[in-house]
Amino acid sequence: MTDALRLERVSFAYGDVTALAEVSFALGPGERAALLGRNGAGKSTLVRLVTGLRRPAAGSIWVEDWDTRDRPPEQLARRVGSMFQYADQQLFARTVRDDVSFGPRALGFAAPEVQQRVGRALAALGLEAHAAHHPYDLPPAFRKLAALAGALALEPRLLVLDEPTAGLDRALRARVASALLERAAAGAALLVVTHDLAFAAETLERALVLDRGRLACDEPLAGLLAAPPRLEPLGLAPPAVAALSRALGLPGAPVREADAARALARVAAGRRAPLD
Ligand SMILES: Nc1ncnc2c1ncn2[C@@H]1O[C@H](COP(=O)(O)OP(=O)(O)OP(=O)(O)O)[C@@H](O)[C@H]1O
Ligand SMILES: [Mg+2]
Repeated sequence: MTDALRLERVSFAYGDVTALAEVSFALGPGERAALLGRNGAGKSTLVRLVTGLRRPAAGSIWVEDWDTRDRPPEQLARRVGSMFQYADQQLFARTVRDDVSFGPRALGFAAPEVQQRVGRALAALGLEAHAAHHPYDLPPAFRKLAALAGALALEPRLLVLDEPTAGLDRALRARVASALLERAAAGAALLVVTHDLAFAAETLERALVLDRGRLACDEPLAGLLAAPPRLEPLGLAPPAVAALSRALGLPGAPVREADAARALARVAAGRRAPLD
């Protein structure tokens, strides 16, 4: 099967500051990857390269069978939906609905198809009530959701999102998580930059960690989150659930809330058994 995204020894520098050095990995359809790493590790740079805003200095990036070097960003948008780190500042239309419609319209879909895609994207994030609002009348967290809805409305095969949950409360993070899981279940690959490891644990399955521009880890996320000694040098702290499971020695070292709750219930039931 064709990879949704493939990086082959990708390097990039801003002047003489190396931001990425020989990064290689591939994502299959439906795969859910977290792109992690401390501030300045190169995560946003990688997002800019994958969306075609910048070109690799060396190496190549493939979106399915397209070499990104040959495709301008507006063409890549047929396959890659993206959201940048400060996306809440990038909305420009007069209403949320118009903003979310921009992408599908630019891709040339007929009006009824645009309407359906926009409707699905707004519904996936619970934004229908805000569709007619001016984006700048909304709090930044909702503007961020509106920007994400714009990416979802493209219904792309690859979603590349830079810090989609920064500044969102628990309820809004849950909306983002369910919208992303829904897209992945429909076959979209996810590459999500995040410092929010609790969100990552609930939503994503693979960890790609950048360390000073190099890919330092590429492995299942749950295993990495269950190993605090490995996280610290990468500038990461385990989410509370992973720390708790470890402290309690829960079987299987669960990192998701629901898994930890089940494991705790089993332990508690086992303790009660002799008294029953
Ligand atoms: N426009 C730019 N011009 C010059 N240097 C830049 C530019 N953008 C980023 N850099 C540098 O490139 C390196 C990687 O930055 P990048 O923004 O990709 O990191 P990041 O992992 O996204 O960090 P953060 O977690 O803070 O968002 C850093 O050393 C940064 O200072
Ligand atoms: Mg960044």
